[in-house]
Formats: sequence, C-alpha cells, structure tokens
Amino acid sequence: MDRVKTGISGLDEMLNGGIPAGRHVALYGGPGSGKTSFCFEYLYQGAKMGENGLYISLEETADDIVENMKNTFPLLSETNKLISEGKLEIIKPDKLDLEDVANLLEDRITSNGIKRAVVDSATMIRMSFKTEVEYRQTLFEFLSLLRNLDVTTLTTVEATTAKKEEMKYDIEHFVMDGIINLYNIDREDRRVRALEIFKMRGTDHSRELVPFKVTPSGIKVYVGEKVF
Ligand SMILES: Nc1ncnc2c1ncn2[C@@H]1O[C@H](COP(=O)(O)OP(=O)(O)OP(=O)(O)O)[C@@H](O)[C@H]1O
Ligand SMILES: [Mg+2]
Repeated sequence: MDRVKTGISGLDEMLNGGIPAGRHVALYGGPGSGKTSFCFEYLYQGAKMGENGLYISLEETADDIVENMKNTFPLLSETNKLISEGKLEIIKPDKLDLEDVANLLEDRITSNGIKRAVVDSATMIRMSFKTEVEYRQTLFEFLSLLRNLDVTTLTTVEATTAKKEEMKYDIEHFVMDGIINLYNIDREDRRVRALEIFKMRGTDHSRELVPFKVTPSGIKVYVGEKVF
C-alpha cells in the first residue's frame, strides 16, 4: 500500500508509515487543540518532499493563516519560498459550498499537481446545511468525488468539547476513512495536549493516547510516552 508520510515527528510511526494514499482523514478537536497547526505542517512537510499542497481555509484568510503559522512555527522558515514556488497554496473560497471546494481541488490538481489537501473546517460547511441528513448526503457525495482524485486530505472538524470522556460521535466519524482526535486534557493546574488515532481504514495503527507539543520547529508527537 502506498502511504503518504505526514512528516510530523512521531505521527508516521503511529500510522505504521503514514496515511494510506488517497484517503480522507478527519482531524477532530476542540478550540485551540492544534488542528490548523497539524494541517499546515502536513502540507509544509509534503511541499518540502516534493508533493504540492493546497490549504482550503473556510474561516481564516490566507494571510492570517500564513501570519499565525509563521509565529507558531518560526523554524519552518521556508513558508514564503514554498508559497512563491507554488508548492504550498492557501485559498479562502468565497462560498461555503462543498461542490465549489471539490471543483477548486480538481482544478488545482490538474493545473498544479496537488497531492495533499486540507479543508479547514468541515464544521463551517456543516453549519450551512439546514438538516444533518442533507449534510451527511452532501459530505458522502463530496468524499466519493474525492476518491476519483489522486489526493490525500486532512479535514478539520470542530469538537464541542475538549474532554475525552465527553466526545460524541458525529457524522464525520462514520463517513471519513480515518479519524485523529486531538485533546486538550484538563489537569489541576494546566492543560496537556494528547492525540490518538481513533480509526484508519485499511491499516494497523497505534491505539495509544500519546502526548504531543506544538514547538517552534513543528509538532512533536511523543510516541511511547504516557500522558501525565
Ligand atoms: N510557538 C508556539 N509554541 C507553543 N504553542 C503554540 C505556539 N503557537 C501557538 N501555540 C498554541 O497552539 C494553539 C493554536 O493551535 P491551532 O490554531 O493550530 O488550533 P486550532 O485547533 O486550529 O484552533 P481553532 O479551534 O481556533 O481553529 C494556540 O492556542 C497555542 O496554545
Ligand atoms: Mg484552526
């Protein structure tokens, strides 16, 4: 099986080498849990490995994302260069429409050989639907469309809670190929970041809850360490 290395320290080991190529993975987490940072680094590392990436932002402007990510990851210093070379594209579409997002992806795949894509966030799209049934149906069609395209995607989903024990299953948990949960675990005097690979169709993977940090040189996932 072909795998797409995320390039994120520790994560590929948990995935037994990377995300199965062509699959669609949801990054599920509460506010500030690191969703945007994960997505950005996935594209950054891919671009450095020669795989062009497209970040479709439905909330923040492209300028805001670049500005925030440069501050978060000052040592991932090639952001501007990768953008100017067309290896990293960040686009904020005018409309929150899954069909438009699919068309945009198809266009950038054809004209710029995009291999990795990010949709941040599905929750923005979900809010534009009147009923859950309509959203589920459209999301399902969107994913079927993506399966014909040679692209591996990360889609962020906003969790309504940061607590592991309060996580509930949403539509995305069932329709996506993989789910990575990001947590901000409450400790007496602080919060600790941790993640788990909740599901990943077609591959064995770690089932541990593993601590991670957002550092200036990128995200570090501490495989084999316990969450304290
Ligand atoms: N340089 C840094 N070092 C350590 N932590 C940082 C750094 N920069 C940002 N952070 C942390 O990362 C968090 C933001 O992460 P990010 O924006 O990726 O989360 P998110 O899940 O996308 O949030 P949102 O729900 O607002 O979209 C900040 O709240 C901050 O705690
Ligand atoms: Mg975000």
